[in-house]
Amino acid sequence: MNPDTPLTLLGGLTPAQFMKTHWQRKPLLVRQAIPGFRPPLSIPAVKKLSRRDDVESRLVWQEQGEWHMERGPFSRLPSPAKPDWTVLVQSVDIHDDGAAALMNRFRFVPDARLDDLMISVATDGGGVGPHFDSYDVFLLQAHGRRRWRFGQQVNLALIEGLSLKILRHFEPEDECVLEPGDMLYLPPQAAHDGIALGECMTISIGFRVPDTASLARGMLEAAADQATARAGGVSGPYGEPPLPGPKLTGLYRDPGQPATAHPAEIPDRLTAAAVQSVAKIRFDEALATRFLGCWLSEPNQLTVFDQPEAQAGDDEEHALPTRWVLDRRTRMLYRGTQLFINGEVACVRAEAGLRQLADDRELAADSPAARKLSPDAADALADWVDAGWIHAIRRRAP
Ligand code: SIN
Ligand code: CO
Repeated sequence: MNPDTPLTLLGGLTPAQFMKTHWQRKPLLVRQAIPGFRPPLSIPAVKKLSRRDDVESRLVWQEQGEWHMERGPFSRLPSPAKPDWTVLVQSVDIHDDGAAALMNRFRFVPDARLDDLMISVATDGGGVGPHFDSYDVFLLQAHGRRRWRFGQQVNLALIEGLSLKILRHFEPEDECVLEPGDMLYLPPQAAHDGIALGECMTISIGFRVPDTASLARGMLEAAADQATARAGGVSGPYGEPPLPGPKLTGLYRDPGQPATAHPAEIPDRLTAAAVQSVAKIRFDEALATRFLGCWLSEPNQLTVFDQPEAQAGDDEEHALPTRWVLDRRTRMLYRGTQLFINGEVACVRAEAGLRQLADDRELAADSPAARKLSPDAADALADWVDAGWIHAIRRRAP
């Protein structure tokens, strides 16, 4: 996607302009962001997803002014004639190709930040109450109408003792009614409340926001893996190769340790050796890339990859791939020469063809980058096809 091409999806802004002026900063209402929009799933299909135990869903309803929330799966949902309820299905992009394709239209934001596509279905009056999210969100109206009230209030105190996050004081500054194809972008912490006007379906494209403590812990864990590897052990949960760096195989030595009258006291020299040992670990960009690549490329925990249909020995095996396509559930990231796929460090460098596959989520076999793929990359592609992580679209050999 060219960041400088104006998009109807962004009301005529280019992705570059949107990211500069709105992202993380201020709301944007786009009328007819997707003209003639047809949702990837029907309302019955969304309700059917909420019955599955491998799908994350929630039911929210209001009764006599009180908020209630229950987690799925739901063998039965309330009647469509009953007002004031909404069912929300999380990560629809991992369950449906159409939903994944819709989410991919937002890949002007790095994959490392894209989280999931959620769909809510509500009856008249339904909604999840006035709240704020800690991440950016695009709210795309898919069916029916919804009234949004929103603002960037400072007081974000929540009502205590609820299973839902509901603002104690909601002071909206703006209001709009969204029709199918309309979209509202809200930055993190923007207060909002969407109320269904009749039967309503809303699609939310949400983003992931690592908190500082998780980043720090991830770096420390990655450093611990490196220390294990450099001492001759196995690095990381998948035995991935250690990053270049000093060996940590030396043993503590204390010639000249004075005789002690306080044998229970930990010696100065040992505490100093412990402090010096961590100074040998490089908390650098290569380590951050290793940690972030493995972490952020981990597939959704509910993901199960399907084995490819063609079995070894089948005619399919002799057909030539015309292109490779990432499975909708696959996460593939790179930085520099490091390449990551589905939580693992790839056993091959991030060469041009593989970077193109990660960026475009597909690679034509006759493209210049594919023709230059190394034998190692070709082997990796074959392994990922076998794992069901990517699909080889084949043409029969003449
Ligand atoms: C909804 O779809 O009802 C809720 C989405 C949101 O407020 O983030
Ligand atoms: Co929200």
